[in-house]
Amino acid sequence: MNTKKIAIMGFGTVGGGAYDILVENREYIKNTRGVDIEVARILDRSEEALSARNADAALFCPSADALAADPDIDLVIETMGGVEPARSFIIKMLKAGKSVVTANKELLAKHWSELEPIAEKNGAGLYFEASCVGGVPIIRALESSFQGDRINTVYGIINGTTNYILSKMSAEGCEYSAALKQAQALGYAEADPTADVEGYDAAYKLSVLGSLAFRTYVPYETVFREGISGITADDIRNARDLGYVIKLLAIGKRDGNKLEARVHPVFVPETHPLASVSDAFNAVYLNGDFVGDLMFYGAGAGAHPTGSAIVSDAITALTEAPKYRRFVADGKLEAGISLVGNFESGYYICVTVDDRVGVLSRISTVLSDNGVSIKAATQRSGREDGTATVVFLTHRANERSVMSALETIGKLASVRRIDSTVRVL
Ligand code: NDP
Ligand code: HSE
Repeated sequence: MNTKKIAIMGFGTVGGGAYDILVENREYIKNTRGVDIEVARILDRSEEALSARNADAALFCPSADALAADPDIDLVIETMGGVEPARSFIIKMLKAGKSVVTANKELLAKHWSELEPIAEKNGAGLYFEASCVGGVPIIRALESSFQGDRINTVYGIINGTTNYILSKMSAEGCEYSAALKQAQALGYAEADPTADVEGYDAAYKLSVLGSLAFRTYVPYETVFREGISGITADDIRNARDLGYVIKLLAIGKRDGNKLEARVHPVFVPETHPLASVSDAFNAVYLNGDFVGDLMFYGAGAGAHPTGSAIVSDAITALTEAPKYRRFVADGKLEAGISLVGNFESGYYICVTVDDRVGVLSRISTVLSDNGVSIKAATQRSGREDGTATVVFLTHRANERSVMSALETIGKLASVRRIDSTVRVL
């Protein structure tokens, strides 16, 4: 049996996780998949990255050019993260005819349309199962299963870090910053965790998953995005009092030629299956016109779950002919497809007001004038500073109507501030 030599670029959490699997299961993979994979070179900033993970220092390679020029290397795993130099390095490898396996959703969301044609032109494969939902085989499912179905919705929890933070804040009353530090220590967060907490990471993933699910390109720039950094302990407590938990959801829908793609925090009913998805676990729902509802659940981040997706892609790349997704090639929303910006949702609105007669009624009037119907309202008053907190839950309403109502409410003399607005599932 031929040994296939591969390289890893970026030897941190995920690169290290993939390496562990390739070393530990080498014989098993050889015997069951018929391919002997040897990690022959590792590129990182310094050799210390290798010694820190018990890899042989002799594997260290400081230069992407040397890797691209090495005829013995059949495939390259990219787990450096970020756009540059990952983009240039991947292009070098593809142009050298080497297939690339990447976990880099940011790069894919921003440069997929550039990379896919380069891969095709050079007969190399581009694989990215690890880029979305960690160890959960969602990309493979979207590409190979229910191919005759029209997928109408793809939605769920697709960022491990924010789910970890919200779970810890909710279950243990943990502070936001302490929960974020834990997620970083566990290797879930991006190098700059702003990508996680402000929803960029989930938006990158929704662009990729939505494109595959809806068989039309969903440019990353078209995804509506809001993160969790504005969610307070009060919001979490209010949610619990009302029978909800807060989750960062990615929501994609296709209805004919109308496309909806958004990422934002959501009040999820405690009884909904997504409510019990905790820590760094992810869950994705799909609905297809004939297959019906499906749910994918598993570890959405972490060295070994993500490493598992990488190794699986590497085996596929080394044993099967590559496939290309031509629909991404122009990097634009397909002609005739329109985006739904004014989507519908229920809303949770928390407002601090002067504790005076008539305030609630004035706010209710503004909501009603904008066509927003109140489902429930509660008030906590009796504070020394003369303020009260009013919490509203609305029936389904248009995003623009709610935002317009909030603009007017914010200007009412008796309203001190609008504390939070969170959409309700
Ligand atoms: P890490 O920071 O743990 O690992 C990245 C490694 O690449 C580090 O050793 C880093 O060195 C090295 N590196 C970065 N830039 C360069 C460069 N220019 N030249 C040489 N080496 C470089 O990140 P992760 O493993 O967490 O993430 C890697 C990729 O996987 C990202 O695209 C991420 O989005 C994705 N991913 C991560 C998951 C996770 O659970 N962590 C899950 C799914 C996907 P240094 O530390 O010195 O910068
Ligand atoms: N930072 C990402 C997350 C890693 O927390 O989900 C997995 O893609």
